[in-house]
Amino acid sequence: MAIDVDEQQRYFHLTAGESSYVFQVIEEGYLAHWYWGPAIRPVGQVDRREMLIPRPFAPSVVPDHEWLSMDTLPQEFPGWGRGDYREPALRVRDSKGNRIVDLRFAGYEVMQGWPGPEGLPHLIAPSDGECQTLAVRLNDPVIRLDAILYYSVAHNLNAVIRWVRLENRGSDRVTLERALSASVDLPYGAWQFVQLTGHWGRERHVESGLLRGGVHRVESVRGTSSHQAQPFLAIAEEGVSETFGAVRAMNLVYSGNFLAIAQGDSYGGVRLGIGIHDDTFEWVLEPGEFFETPQAVLVYADHGLQQMSHVFHELYRKSLGSHGWRGRNRPIVLNSWEAMYFRVNHQDVVQLAKVAADVGIEVVVIDDGWFGDRRDDRRSLGDWVSNPEKFPRGIKGVADDLHALGLKCGLWVEPEMVSRESRLYQEHPEWCLGIPDRSLSEGRHQLVLDLSNPQVVDWMVEWLGRLIEETGIDYVKWDMNRHLSEVGSPVWPPSRQGEVYHRYVLGLYRVLEALTGRYPEVLFEGCSGGGGRFDPGMLYYTPQIWTSDNSDAIDRLAIQYGTSLLYPVETMTAHVSAVPNHQVGRVTPLSTRGWVAFSANLGYELDLRKLSRQELDEIRQQIRFYRQMRDLVQHGTFYRLASPWRDNSAGWMFVASGAQEALVIWINQWAEVSGPIRWLRLRGLDPTQDYRVVDVTQFDFGRELGIWGGDRLMGQGLAWRFDRDFQAKAWYLRTREFHEGERQ
Ligand code: GLA
Repeated sequence: MAIDVDEQQRYFHLTAGESSYVFQVIEEGYLAHWYWGPAIRPVGQVDRREMLIPRPFAPSVVPDHEWLSMDTLPQEFPGWGRGDYREPALRVRDSKGNRIVDLRFAGYEVMQGWPGPEGLPHLIAPSDGECQTLAVRLNDPVIRLDAILYYSVAHNLNAVIRWVRLENRGSDRVTLERALSASVDLPYGAWQFVQLTGHWGRERHVESGLLRGGVHRVESVRGTSSHQAQPFLAIAEEGVSETFGAVRAMNLVYSGNFLAIAQGDSYGGVRLGIGIHDDTFEWVLEPGEFFETPQAVLVYADHGLQQMSHVFHELYRKSLGSHGWRGRNRPIVLNSWEAMYFRVNHQDVVQLAKVAADVGIEVVVIDDGWFGDRRDDRRSLGDWVSNPEKFPRGIKGVADDLHALGLKCGLWVEPEMVSRESRLYQEHPEWCLGIPDRSLSEGRHQLVLDLSNPQVVDWMVEWLGRLIEETGIDYVKWDMNRHLSEVGSPVWPPSRQGEVYHRYVLGLYRVLEALTGRYPEVLFEGCSGGGGRFDPGMLYYTPQIWTSDNSDAIDRLAIQYGTSLLYPVETMTAHVSAVPNHQVGRVTPLSTRGWVAFSANLGYELDLRKLSRQELDEIRQQIRFYRQMRDLVQHGTFYRLASPWRDNSAGWMFVASGAQEALVIWINQWAEVSGPIRWLRLRGLDPTQDYRVVDVTQFDFGRELGIWGGDRLMGQGLAWRFDRDFQAKAWYLRTREFHEGERQ
């Protein structure tokens, strides 16, 4: 059973794969968190009551229970104001202006399957295992607010999915000031944090350090999850590595402002919390109204970051994704942006597409520049009609020509934005986010549409649906090129202005839900100036995301490596681009650019017409080989082997078919004179099997190097001496018995 309840002791014992999560209803109906760690059997007592000793300056809620202080009790969903001086999960304001909330146990229910919060992306129960949900109802009898805590688990996955529903059951208004999705109190230990940070062009670099006293926060108040932060925070055993150390990680299924906290408490413990950021959030609950938080995914891994990643990858592959594309192979794309920028037109796109079709590309995406008077980034956002000079036969005409070449057609849109210089802005200036009497800041010369306004949402669903149907496009690249400022909306009263940030995200999800539901065959790619909104919320609708506007192969090593901490490689689009690279001017070999993009969801973004015959042949070969390897890369198990920060090289491998085959990719950074011979120790193989090792660096089954034992490949590794900057090396391994059919 994934969920065991001891009625007598009022214990709740969740078994999530190889982990357990335990809490209990204690005196006065409080919910005490006892355990989150390696799996334990649901027998006997697991409590940490020995920790509940009276502490100086820790007020007790009940006079003769000095030990029962909210300040020392490990809790499941701490409220503000009853003597817990740590970060609360819930803070409210009642109709009298008081802010105390005091939640006690009021019942529970165990159900099959995984329910999800209304209007928000959520994880779908995988079909191959027992999936259960525990719902625990808490109640504050004074303000008559109920909180239902949801915990979903699958018996074979080390993840607990948490979210909360808050119901106003009284007759007065309650305003939510903070409503996190999950909170967990961990006991004393030497903890290290792991997080992903960055900025435009440098997303999701791994950062780690010792956790100290005080509050460690990872957050975004930019209106999106952002380039700068990732809605993720892990607390790990000191010295954590890919294969060592207990890790407890949280990731929020949400695309707006978020807050993740790790707070060292006075006694060496840590409180974790994750949810919507309260600096930009308030929600009014009138009598009878409810609010549901996004889901937080809690992952426990006993053996380091690799295991943590495998849990996230498996969960997101199986359970994230609303319609159509979950689990399907992703096509090979050519994007026009770095090839033509704003100068796209029918003739050039079709010329380029002919070369693309010839080398094996599957989708051509017409990026920015196709609509209105869009000759630069100063105008036309909002006027989503193709430019008749650039596209005399419209987008339908170019889509027809691409289809005739055997290609699919993709189109760039940035629906959430409007340029001042546009018909839309002239007609509907009130459709922008804004605050009366304040001027509006511009980002990339554009303003943000008010997605908290249902009229704007309906308009967006309508024009995008019409565009898809009239043009016959197969692929939509959904961009979002600025962060929010002056956030307010004329459609909501003053008391609800604090809701607009979250209502914006809900509006966005409504549009995406409608479109992906109506057009399940259309593949939506997410983008926000590259990877500025790369989160599980967006991945639910856009199963792949443009990982970064930085297409330089060497910078991409760190970006893709960091992103892989949480997300499977097929979610990351990666394009081979021109040299010198447009962002950093670096010149890297075509094969290296190929291998870096090959390590994710392969695509191209350069003017193929300008390449030599030899370069085109090489690209043709890359694509042919990727097609042979696509299911291994896009569905295999991913192992990070060498870190771009630590090792002067980056290495990883994909393992599939029950460890019968693997692909190893290793990229050098800086050449060293008389440098060492390096060893790359492999992982995930079968130590008892013998593997044929083939050098596939040239994107073909070039040279068989020999037959080596899995034990040796993992114990000692593969050796190479890189002697040039940015060199790439790749090997394909398969067991003697494995007949890979189409691979060779
Ligand atoms: C953003 C995207 C790019 C490209 C441009 C077009 O920067 O990340 O890939 O689509 O917009 O303006």
